[in-house]
Amino acid sequence: MIEIVEVGPRDGLQNEKAWVPTDAKVAFVNALNKTGTRQIEVTAFVSPKWVPQLKDAQEVLGRIERAEGIEYSALVPNLRGFERAMECDVDKLALFTAASETFNSKNINTTIDGSFERMRRVCDAASESQKPVRGYISTAFHCPFEGAIQPHLVTDIALRLLDLGVHDVSIGDTIGKANVDEVKRLLDHLLKVVPTEKVAMHFHDTFGQAAENVVASWEMGVEIFDSCTGGIGGCPYAPGAPGNVATATVVRALRQAGADIPYDLDAVDSAHIEIRDYLGVTPVLQ
Ligand code: HMG
Ligand code: MG
Repeated sequence: MIEIVEVGPRDGLQNEKAWVPTDAKVAFVNALNKTGTRQIEVTAFVSPKWVPQLKDAQEVLGRIERAEGIEYSALVPNLRGFERAMECDVDKLALFTAASETFNSKNINTTIDGSFERMRRVCDAASESQKPVRGYISTAFHCPFEGAIQPHLVTDIALRLLDLGVHDVSIGDTIGKANVDEVKRLLDHLLKVVPTEKVAMHFHDTFGQAAENVVASWEMGVEIFDSCTGGIGGCPYAPGAPGNVATATVVRALRQAGADIPYDLDAVDSAHIEIRDYLGVTPVLQ
């Protein structure tokens, strides 16, 4: 069964320059509850100095309405982030590293090995608290600083994440540059050693290739896709990372390819309306 992980409240908002009021963030998540998603990444417990837009993470996670059957996750970079997230009873943690040393250094101020040291501590603590964890691999296809990334590097990191005990590994096309051939090449390599049900795809949509990439991944067996209502967002530490693929684009592309996805696109539009007036960028039309 296809799973859409709605990352709009985190990835969609983290790059906004103007302050988005906490009330609007809470209303956005509450509206997303009605779309049919079973996973919402609500916010990030990263350093407020690095990502000021999400400095109200505790308040947002504490105030949202929690619907039955939906997991509410948050991005955390280290134990400090884990502790803050646990204070608001997060359901699931999302950890992140990258296939590129330069991107990791700019995004989290450490090396790949350094990120694993931090993630290991979080995973140990999460396991004690019986909280599931997902792991992102950014710059899995292209890095804005190092260029093309070889599939074996991504596969190695995915295996290291699985060793830590993550539930799923989300493969990030951080700057939205991957094409279908590159997606197939990476998945060919990755799926030889990583179980398909543990793989999620996280496409940004710089060049309008994300819908094709989603369908190509699905045809290779992947069933977990990250997306942002309204196609909003981007990573502040990846020059050229615009919005994630829009949730409606993913649902429509997969339906057109023959997948059966129970999802309410009117509710997706309503959620988009809750947030769009606060955003400095024009979101992707659905
Ligand atoms: P650092 O400066 O190296 O950290 O940052 P530090 O451990 O030296 O601490 C410095 C200060 O930050 C200290 O405070 C800490 O307490 C505080 P001070 O003593 O100076 O007052 N601090 C924290 N405060 C709150 N929550 C925390 C926390 N940790 C430390 N968790 C750090 C290292 C990882 C914290 C920083 O680099 C950071 O927060 N980076 C996050 C960047 C980010 O959020 N990027 C976007 C998300 S990734 C993404 O978008 C990609 C993805 O979507 C997938 C894809 O598209 O590819 C996931
Ligand atoms: Mg992203």
